[in-house]
Amino acid sequence: MAGLQGTPVLVVGAGLMGSGIAQVAAQAGHAVLLFDARAGAAAQARAKLAATWDGLVAKGRLAAADAQAALARISAASALDEARGVGLVIEAIVEDLEAKRALLAQIEGVVGADAVLATNTSSISVTALAAQLARPQRLVGMHFFNPVPLMKLVEVVSGLHTDPAVAAAVFELAQAWGKTPVHARSTPGFIVNRIARPYYAEALALLLEQAATPALIDAGLRGAGFRMGPCELMDLIGHDTNFAVTQSVFEANFHDRRYQPSLVQREMVDGGLLGRKSGRGFYRHPAEGAPALPVAVHEAPAAAAAVTVHGAGPLADALAEAATKALAAQGWGPARETGSDWVGLAVDGAQLRLTDGRTAAELAAGSGLADIAVFDRPLLQPAPPGTALAYAVAGRAGPAWRSQAGAWLAALGYAPLPLADVPGLLVARTVAMLVNEAADAVLQGVCAPAGADAAMRLGVAWPAGPFEWLAGWPAAEIAALIDRLDAHYRGERYRVSPWLRRRALGESA
Ligand code: NAI
Repeated sequence: MAGLQGTPVLVVGAGLMGSGIAQVAAQAGHAVLLFDARAGAAAQARAKLAATWDGLVAKGRLAAADAQAALARISAASALDEARGVGLVIEAIVEDLEAKRALLAQIEGVVGADAVLATNTSSISVTALAAQLARPQRLVGMHFFNPVPLMKLVEVVSGLHTDPAVAAAVFELAQAWGKTPVHARSTPGFIVNRIARPYYAEALALLLEQAATPALIDAGLRGAGFRMGPCELMDLIGHDTNFAVTQSVFEANFHDRRYQPSLVQREMVDGGLLGRKSGRGFYRHPAEGAPALPVAVHEAPAAAAAVTVHGAGPLADALAEAATKALAAQGWGPARETGSDWVGLAVDGAQLRLTDGRTAAELAAGSGLADIAVFDRPLLQPAPPGTALAYAVAGRAGPAWRSQAGAWLAALGYAPLPLADVPGLLVARTVAMLVNEAADAVLQGVCAPAGADAAMRLGVAWPAGPFEWLAGWPAAEIAALIDRLDAHYRGERYRVSPWLRRRALGESA
């Protein structure tokens, strides 16, 4: 089919998303018709866009002539009939299957046989939307992110009926509009809304079992390089919206327990604690935001007779370097045991171990050693000094090790965050579950690994994509960690993706 560059575009729905899409299309040189069922809404949106462009001109970000030309290209339609000549329709109306179906059927009666129909739905199956069309092969998902002019990602979603040439044309068009498109198969949540679920779910699971406060969870994940922790992010998105997406992914997956919504969030939604928009969520707004954690002062570790760094690989090497620095002041250095099957520090008879999914209590019970602590996976390498890092001490540990574990982490350059002794702690379990979800998406042909990485970096601004994390964390270790979460909690949430398991076995998954 012919390309869509330069074709007149009809945008239906002049709300938040529709007006953003109209802005981008007009700036890219398309004649844009904007239509909304609510009388006056399209004209209002056009007037708002005029003000937006004026603002950009005032800031020197857009030439006045370009702003004028873009505005001249947009017109508010008073009836759908006016869209007869368009080559592309982008639907951005209310998120309702029947409303969208009715609208698409109506549009099919107006536009030419070659026109492409795109839907900006964030959760409805593209296949279901296409099913009753006369030409279902011309419907494709074009899922923009909010705010449209700023967010680079566009998920180009193909349903069962979608003609690959239509998906390819929309993909190319998105590129021409300065976006980064990623192909996705029509499955619940597409790419971003699906792969991101565990980011919220793991935080909510930790809150449900009272393992940590929201501020501690946020600090730990910010320490791993995420721009916002999950609790402050849910407050920003709105708990009602976040809960609705979780529920829709859960229901669309036939109530797979892996996607089960959280009672913690349900209670907040029921109570009207919706986050920033209602003045209160996990935090109070606007005054508070995520409060700073109380600064814990850690004395230098007590003098030890022997310190050994265990394990091999970049994390063990980084620990060895940090331990060498920490002990240099006392005029000696740590020993190194690269053949161990664990990574961490042995301090006399005590152990400070990188989490492998077992709790400190489980490790203590298995080894007969009481003085054990586990610490979270440092995701940022090299970790800037003072990076927040969660840790937990075995319940049977003596009082001395209880304070020494934190003191050692501080001496190694981290800001230790005391967490309850839960399997996989905070960052390790969250990131393992994110990688696992991405692996399953690839297994099911929802997207390619590179598409998942691009989508998560651009759609939710993650510091890295799931497959980039996987490059630095062996699949076998991630699978083992999730298996241990499963052994601890029992249920279906912690189910290793077959893709990850095959990869762990060295097969090219
Ligand atoms: P919105 O509520 O701001 O705008 C929807 C507009 O559609 C309203 O102006 C409404 O009057 C109009 N409308 C409703 N039914 C209509 C019909 N039958 N014909 C013509 N116009 C109609 O909603 P928003 O946020 O712009 O969402 C629109 C679509 O984009 C939804 O499918 C949503 O799931 C999706 N989306 C939303 C994102 C967001 O962050 N808000 C992100 C990505 C997708």
